[in-house]
Amino acid sequence: MNFSKEAIVDEMMGFFKSKVITSAFELNIFDAISDKPLTLDEVCRHCNIPVNSGKRLLIALTAMGLIENKDNHYLLNSSAKSYLVSDSKEWLGWLARHIDSFLYPLWAQTANAVKDDSDQRKVVFGDARSWFDILYQNPQDVVDFQEFLGIFAQPFIDGMIDAFDFSKYRHFLDIGSGIGSLPVAVAQHNPNLKISICELPQAASYLRDRLKVTKGGEDIEVITGNIIEGKLPDNTYDLVHLGWMLHDYSPSIQCEILKNIYDSLPSGATFIASETPLNDDESGPLFTALLSINMLVSTDGGVESTREEYLQRFNEVGFVNTRVLTINGPRTLFIGEKE
Ligand SMILES: C[S@@+](CC[C@H](N)C(=O)[O-])C[C@H]1O[C@@H](n2cnc3c(N)ncnc32)[C@H](O)[C@@H]1O
Repeated sequence: MNFSKEAIVDEMMGFFKSKVITSAFELNIFDAISDKPLTLDEVCRHCNIPVNSGKRLLIALTAMGLIENKDNHYLLNSSAKSYLVSDSKEWLGWLARHIDSFLYPLWAQTANAVKDDSDQRKVVFGDARSWFDILYQNPQDVVDFQEFLGIFAQPFIDGMIDAFDFSKYRHFLDIGSGIGSLPVAVAQHNPNLKISICELPQAASYLRDRLKVTKGGEDIEVITGNIIEGKLPDNTYDLVHLGWMLHDYSPSIQCEILKNIYDSLPSGATFIASETPLNDDESGPLFTALLSINMLVSTDGGVESTREEYLQRFNEVGFVNTRVLTINGPRTLFIGEKE
């Protein structure tokens, strides 16, 4: 790679842009101009902000290209609109709130996290409870986290539905399902498959409400449980999936989770974990590498791993025929079977 000074400075100042966007979401700037272009005074009146400072934010958003200024009227960039307007399914305002409440303050402590090889929850929130206990203490934070993860997951779900044959299974369990997008997509494609979800209690009530109003979600069973604490309550699942959850925990807890799942499965069952692994030579990918730092500052020892490390953990707890399935989209499937 060849770097110019400007390119490095641009990377270093990246948080300027991040805060412009998250502030615009917080101040409802994008919604204000979603229906029709507004003048500076109109935007500021609508968002209840002073014209002087509001103008700076609008100029910054214009310079970033997210909004445009035509004839002294501000309007949304048409290609960005569906991500910026709150009544859109792809709205990224959930992520903006999560960034402001959790990621940005935690990332401010990155050097300390690396120095101490430790999360920074106590420093930032004055709270030593586990990551999910802190994250899930306010219902709005649950919703923000689950909704933006649902948007992140969609391309993976499309890839998994295309690549994996669900038709030979009878009972599918998705552990830590978030808003249940994968089970819903599986239900829509496999109407005869019985489908259950196991979620943490603090996330389950939003999930249940969400499934009731989602086509294909009505018949999905939701059980509450913590897979670190023991075996699954039922042993009829012949297919179990765990999505983007192993990386939330330390390698030793990952092995406990895998062992609990293994012990709960009937013989012949298939287990799949979907993750975003590091390259074999640990050279990236960039998003996974950064996510691993995110896991360091926020979670209970969470870390990103290579394909080989995941497979080794599968083998350690007893899974056989362990393998990697590359699918379209951002994730990789790790598959193991119980003999
Ligand atoms: C990063 S999210 C991933 C959501 C979704 N599975 C996906 O693939 O995008 C991790 C999910 O696992 C759930 N979870 C975390 N720890 C858990 C545990 N110990 N037992 C059960 N669910 C857990 C969280 O509530 C959250 O919904």
